[in-house]
Amino acid sequence: MTKKTMFEHLKELPLDPIFQLLADFNADLNPKKVNLGIGLYADYEGNPFVFPVIQKVFSEVDIHNFNYQPIGGNQEFLELSTKALLGDFDQSRLALHTVCGGTQGCRLFRDLLDLENSQRTLLIGMPTWPNHLAIFKSFSIKKFDHLNSQGEASLENYMNVVREAKAGDVLVLHGGLTHNPTGKNLGMDELKKLAAELNEKGVILFLDFAYWGFGEGIEADAEYVRFLFEEVENVACAISFSKNASLYEHRIGSLIVKTKKKAVVESQLRQLTRESISMAPGLGQEVMTMVFKKHFEQWKKEVDGVREDMEYRKNLLLKDLPESFQNVKECKGMFGLLPLTKEQVLRLRKEYSVYITDNARINFAGIKPKEVGYVAKAIKEVCTS
Ligand code: LMR
Repeated sequence: MTKKTMFEHLKELPLDPIFQLLADFNADLNPKKVNLGIGLYADYEGNPFVFPVIQKVFSEVDIHNFNYQPIGGNQEFLELSTKALLGDFDQSRLALHTVCGGTQGCRLFRDLLDLENSQRTLLIGMPTWPNHLAIFKSFSIKKFDHLNSQGEASLENYMNVVREAKAGDVLVLHGGLTHNPTGKNLGMDELKKLAAELNEKGVILFLDFAYWGFGEGIEADAEYVRFLFEEVENVACAISFSKNASLYEHRIGSLIVKTKKKAVVESQLRQLTRESISMAPGLGQEVMTMVFKKHFEQWKKEVDGVREDMEYRKNLLLKDLPESFQNVKECKGMFGLLPLTKEQVLRLRKEYSVYITDNARINFAGIKPKEVGYVAKAIKEVCTS
């Protein structure tokens, strides 16, 4: 009998497309290369930016205690961050758990749902963040168009897909007010209609809220989530502090699940975490606890500054682009979709070393004012020649 070696049946997989794009950018030797791919807020030289308030808090962190954290997370961090998001919402109706960034928040929620029943359908507006499709692969996936023919977020499409769904299916809203990748969002009145339909059908709403503050500000963006937690019976939210606190590598966020069974759900989340990563890292939790306790106003101001700067950088580029690109002006947050074909996107990369994702998503926070002329010229050239 021939012996089999381990993993013979496994195939080599391609890298996640967003991280592959970053690797291609890093390997590009063209000195004029421009990274408008991965969602990172960079300074005007293209270096990662760290919020001044976060730098200050890091200098105050206790470096004499790197003890184990509780499996479910630092309670103070969870209570303060949830209060900042949901105001006076009764926390005895919420299961709270620290997660290792927004991605793990999504994955943990999927694992929690799988414990009960994995015969679910994920309802997901396309285009979406590609990792959603991988994370929720234990479900059936029903895709629909996030945008209508005018390029706006389509309430009708959301309502139709929920009307056809069964109880226990899961609808994802990505980004909250800052849909990744389109930057086009449902408005408050539309969310009210959607909430009623979700309750009628018993569909679960999952908010992948990765860009808190980048839509209209920390307080204004929280209003939308508060409303949905008040109105929708079955709702959960994953928060991330990667972008809005520049804590990318520290992988810090939380999962908030509305439930009448707080103790049960939290115990299940603890078990899922214990058997995978034991606990989320502590440093980011400590930093954000200090931000919420002592520097909340300062952080909000700095997030406002970043949001306004992304808006400025977007408008700078749009000034140099033709009419057909001006619809992007309405996009909120880090991202928008440029009206380019995949072929044009690939030419941008190959001929000009300008990197945006294959679906023409651009990260406004990567635009350097001094490079706007070069980027605009490259975009116009791939459109005309
Ligand atoms: C993105 O969409 O570029 C970011 O959210 C980074 C990531 O993890 O993909």
